[in-house]
Amino acid sequence: MTILVTGGAGFIGSNFVLDWLAQSDEKVVTLDALTYAGNLENLASLQGDARHLFVQGDICDRALVDRLLAEQRPRALIHFAAESHVDRSISGPGAFMRTNIEGTYTLLEAARGYWGTLDADAKAAFRFHHVSTDEVYGSLQAEDPPFAETNAYEPNSPYSASKAASDHLVRAWHHTYGLPVVTTNCSNNYGPFHFPEKLIPLMIVNALAGKPLPVYGDGQQIRDWLYVSDHASAIRAVLAGGRLGETYNIGGWNEMANIDIVNTVCALLDEFRPDPAGPYARLISYVKDRPGHDRRYAIDARKIERELGWRPAETFASGIRKTVQWYLANPEWVARVQSGAYRDWVSKQYGN
Ligand code: NAD
Ligand code: TYD
Repeated sequence: MTILVTGGAGFIGSNFVLDWLAQSDEKVVTLDALTYAGNLENLASLQGDARHLFVQGDICDRALVDRLLAEQRPRALIHFAAESHVDRSISGPGAFMRTNIEGTYTLLEAARGYWGTLDADAKAAFRFHHVSTDEVYGSLQAEDPPFAETNAYEPNSPYSASKAASDHLVRAWHHTYGLPVVTTNCSNNYGPFHFPEKLIPLMIVNALAGKPLPVYGDGQQIRDWLYVSDHASAIRAVLAGGRLGETYNIGGWNEMANIDIVNTVCALLDEFRPDPAGPYARLISYVKDRPGHDRRYAIDARKIERELGWRPAETFASGIRKTVQWYLANPEWVARVQSGAYRDWVSKQYGN
């Protein structure tokens, strides 16, 4: 048996692939274009492992996806590949429309073609698992209940609009063509291999470099935070037992204001790597707010718990300690990402 994972060299995808192969011997084929966010070094521990095949390629390349499906005959396709950074979607939305919408459309069409060739048992067992975000639901007021699967879609950024569009395509391919899909909408992840353009890793690496810690606006925006391996375990649960055509919200029951996240990171760094110049929180610098900045996200994750018995294993206190320790233990990874040298890693490592 084989699964096909798109975007498996990115932050969540690589954590998912590593977790998958730590728990099962089922082969993983990773398809990833290695954009700026894709880093094959994240999967370095799988080098020489016959259970893993890496293919560099674009999810918009229909011929490539068709060929991979025909040759590898996966029993599931787990779709992580995306442009994922809200700030980049504001300065350059085009790549988001292409990868997140056209790319998802291409995968759906390729999967539909492949699925149509399967025998009845394989057809019934096949899954297209679409990995999406809570940002499709828009922004909550302080007194609103958390996002449930029944909430209306109200995306506000080019990123969330492109993800919302992809969710709609996935839904339509199920309703119209019967493609066996499941969609998960998860809150903000954090953990190892997180690209330091996102809040938590940016704060860690800037603090260690003595650089300002840029907090947008008043820092009171709220996100729900989930440790990345809990996202991986939730996806495994939905893949194994989720009902076809359903969506499942995934979250950490952990709403926090950005400024409290930044202060927590600073306090952990003060504990693990005290700076003679003083507490890291001295570096906090309030900067201009993000345009259209969503005020609050929160997830009602009762459906996945009720139907599939999934709950996060990590608390924020345990997950953020592990995360800060991972960044302290992996300065070479950080340095290569920051210098851009990670892009040369493939050729250095593999010789071409
Ligand atoms: P990421 O930006 O770290 O990784 C994305 C990966 O996709 C990279 O390896 C990149 O090379 C690859 N990719 C991009 N365009 C591609 C293309 N056209 N063809 C093939 N590969 C391509 O993103 P992430 O944070 O790991 O997010 C993964 C998925 O999870 C995304 O779909 C995202 O919307 C979703 N998600 C992320 C979060 C979060 O907090 N990061 C939360 C909920 C959902
Ligand atoms: P981010 O990690 O970009 O995730 P998302 O926008 O998808 O939730 O940002 C998380 C929160 O942190 C968001 O409210 C924006 C804020 N933020 C800052 O205050 N400063 C920063 O430098 C970054 C990158 C984000």
